Amino acid sequence: MSHSSLREAELQQRVEDTRQMLRSIDQEHLLHFVEELDQDECCALLDQIDLINLPAAAKIVLKAQDSEFKAPSENAIQPASFVPHHPPNEDEARQRGRKLIDGGKVAAFTVAGGQGTRLGWNGPKGSFPASPLTGKPLFRLFAEQIRAMSERSGKTIPWYIMTSPINDADTRAFFTDNNFFGLDRTSIFMFPQGVLPSFDDDGKFMLATRSQVAVNPDGHGGSLRALRTSGAIEDMVARGIQQISYFQVDNPAVKTLDPLFVGLHAGDPSSSGEMSSKMIPKISAGEKVGVFCEVEDRTCVIEYSDLPVALAEAVTQDGSLTYIAGSIAIHLLSVEFVDRLTRDEDSISLPLHMARKKVPYVSLESGALIKPDSPNATKLELFIFDAIPLAERSMVYETERVEEFAPIKNADGGDSPASSAELQFERSARWLEAAGIKVPRENGIPLAKIEISPLSALGPEDLPTEDTPEEIEPGAEIVI
Ligand code: UTP
Repeated sequence: MSHSSLREAELQQRVEDTRQMLRSIDQEHLLHFVEELDQDECCALLDQIDLINLPAAAKIVLKAQDSEFKAPSENAIQPASFVPHHPPNEDEARQRGRKLIDGGKVAAFTVAGGQGTRLGWNGPKGSFPASPLTGKPLFRLFAEQIRAMSERSGKTIPWYIMTSPINDADTRAFFTDNNFFGLDRTSIFMFPQGVLPSFDDDGKFMLATRSQVAVNPDGHGGSLRALRTSGAIEDMVARGIQQISYFQVDNPAVKTLDPLFVGLHAGDPSSSGEMSSKMIPKISAGEKVGVFCEVEDRTCVIEYSDLPVALAEAVTQDGSLTYIAGSIAIHLLSVEFVDRLTRDEDSISLPLHMARKKVPYVSLESGALIKPDSPNATKLELFIFDAIPLAERSMVYETERVEEFAPIKNADGGDSPASSAELQFERSARWLEAAGIKVPRENGIPLAKIEISPLSALGPEDLPTEDTPEEIEPGAEIVI
């Protein structure tokens, strides 16, 4: 038998094995076009089916209703307690956190596997120009903070970045093209997250093309499993990392590593040191952020859509919202905690969140690509905040919106590049004012546009720098 016919026979056998497996889970239609595919396409389809572990995904679909996140009932919910912005033990906690960071015990971790559909940027979201005057991309802003902190502590701070199979190659190329933003490339550990297949109203998986199953990244909660399967956890252990500073790619204002937060998390009695979170006070009952609550003595985040209106609108005696602690997706997780949660496949027990989405698919009848006008399928996702109640005692720390939360999610309106820029200008103005430099304002709004590079200052305590002007003129645009 010639080499090519041997390969052909092997491929046919693989197709038959896969067909049997798919038949056993009632998903045989995924091979509908297999006879029309060339060898490479056929291999790609079989590889993808192996990789997604479709039998496990089919079980998920079957019990989807059971394992779906169920919001707790109204009377089971209490507001979560939180550590105030300036806690009494602030200095001591900050010192403890700084010691851990300086000792090389804390790693930065960015989740950057999302699809960024709302922003509509052509490329990984981390490549989006986010600083308001110089247009530095999000990844550069984080890299500069990490670089500044590493230089100060004299220890390399490793940076773990979760991509998705969809944007992994582009993200890697972006880092290479930018010479790793001046960081030691061996301190950057990039890995793609897993995917989950979408399913239609009959519980059938769908084909995105004739040779590809329709899948989506498995949500930021997929980061726990991906940290394990990528070898990141082992890498952290080998480097002596104890704590993971988790943040999202779309928040240019985030403190990638915050000594005070680290110190409160690892050492405060309100924390088991396993998983802690930052919150900001909600500005209105209807603000669309998840809220920190307590259910059965465990801290958790309840999504705004799941929080009963009566609770969302409840106020305390002083008129402030009872359920005030809004989640901004900034967490600390201990390596031990992630290790425990992911030791074996069954120990990863985050609930599935389902969302109805428009998923383009190839029609089995006509072979044409159908782009639905209305949601036609269910997408499954895991959320990182569902790990919070799995921690023994979970600390929530209050921070200030303008200091740490300027997300870029939408092309315009709220949480857009424009709203983020305003928040970034306001923060720079405050930092200068805290350093004794007067910033002209009108109706409270700064009249100058100021951008401060993380390489110049990580906070007001680093200002003024040598090149900081003593006076700021109205209308000035200043980069420090
Ligand atoms: P979002 O929930 O804002 O989703 O992600 P998104 O995919 O970026 O944007 P849309 O909804 O399509 O417009 C919040 C954070 O979680 C990461 C994102 O990259 C972002 O940092 N994320 C989200 C992942 O890493 N993986 C996912 O599967 C989903």
